[in-house]
Amino acid sequence: MRKLLIAANWKMYKTPAESTAFLTSFFPLVKNNTAAEIVLCPAMPCLPAVVDAARGKSVSVGAQNMHWHNEGAYTGETSPTMITAIGATHVLIGHSERRQYFNETDTTVNLKLKAALAHSLVPIVCVGEHLNEREQNLTADVLNLQISVALEGIKPEALGPLVIAYEPVWAIGTGRTATPEIAEDAHKIIRAKIAAIAGSDVADSTRILYGGSVKPDNAGSLCCLDDIDGALVGGASLDPDSFAKIITNATTR
Ligand code: 13P
Repeated sequence: MRKLLIAANWKMYKTPAESTAFLTSFFPLVKNNTAAEIVLCPAMPCLPAVVDAARGKSVSVGAQNMHWHNEGAYTGETSPTMITAIGATHVLIGHSERRQYFNETDTTVNLKLKAALAHSLVPIVCVGEHLNEREQNLTADVLNLQISVALEGIKPEALGPLVIAYEPVWAIGTGRTATPEIAEDAHKIIRAKIAAIAGSDVADSTRILYGGSVKPDNAGSLCCLDDIDGALVGGASLDPDSFAKIITNATTR
């Protein structure tokens, strides 16, 4: 019922030329894929080149962040209007690196989520606990709070496009992937919280991705689980072969 979604978060890597070179190698590797939706999230300056190169291919393009206002005196920011005008269709919201280094909070995540939905951008809202929170048994509390503030004031019928990415902070860029059991438990907590807020129909149709050191050799064991509907991949998405292998391994389940 929920189609697998595999997204690449390129973070602050790749120039426009490097992005299009990636696509030249990548497209032939995934030309037979129909099992997963593929989304590439390059850095903002690369969006136009990646949108152009992806035209007519079954690959969507997303931004890694955006402001919630349509326009205004917000130096250095990018608005949802600009992102949709470029032709991107998805946006990452509240990535832990945004929370950690750029003061993103659950409240700004909520504003950005409302803006994304209002502009028909598919929001990929990132949540996840820090290591010390997991060690103190606070994972469920953290996830429940992040989800409830993110969804505050949004009508259930508006949440159709919502995608959540569970990215435990201790697993990002560390090579310390969550075990399938840990990830599945967290995804169940998130889905139950969405059900409590917006009803079971919304919860059942919301895709929840896992992110944090996803590699070709663990993508299959993570994505085969009931509540894991895909992956948000950082480092291993920078290389076309490795990202294509993740898609292949995630979809042969
Ligand atoms: P890594 O796959 O490099 O651990 O990054 C995960 C991530 O932050 C994706 O958004």
